[in-house]
Amino acid sequence: MNRLPVIVATLCLAAAALIAGATWWVTRNGPSGAAGSAQVISSGKALVGGPFQLVDQTGRAVDESILKGKWTVVFFGFTFCPDVCPTTLTAMEAVKKDLGARGADLQVVFITVDPERDTPAALKAYLDSVGPEGTIGLTGTPEQVTAAAKAYRVYFRKSGEGDDYTMDHSTAAYLMDPKGEFAAVLPYGLAPADKAKVIRDAMKQ
Ligand code: NI
Repeated sequence: MNRLPVIVATLCLAAAALIAGATWWVTRNGPSGAAGSAQVISSGKALVGGPFQLVDQTGRAVDESILKGKWTVVFFGFTFCPDVCPTTLTAMEAVKKDLGARGADLQVVFITVDPERDTPAALKAYLDSVGPEGTIGLTGTPEQVTAAAKAYRVYFRKSGEGDDYTMDHSTAAYLMDPKGEFAAVLPYGLAPADKAKVIRDAMKQ
């Protein structure tokens, strides 16, 4: 039996399916929509980060320019956080140690998602006891905090009522380069040695 017609028929069907799929995609998204998606994938740097107006733990008004000239790990949390935030801050101490001399080029920025309780003084007391020395704690008005979280694609939500409320929040940290642009994600579950490797590799580029 000659298999060629079967193969040709199969290929034709596959090609027809591809064309139908592509047509469906373009119809659904429009040619510019498809191109737009490709751009977003190729320029991931634009996805995370951006301008913010906040206040540090000394009461000084700061903006995104604090990211310039240094590698920075940015993450969002709150001082009443029972696990994720203290664990992340403690891990960052290990990461800085692992980086050795390069660790001096790395700053840590902790942005609260709980400005109601996390005043500059509360952030100062917290960061004096947890995390690497020199960690910058940032807070602001609820609107300023929401805008910063939005820029960093961070999710957070108040959970519970009264004094005992807690905050749900994204757990990933972001490595930003000395231009203040996104360089890498540091997932919460990644071991400190692996986080250090991601940072060391990024610093080499
Ligand atoms: Ni937390």
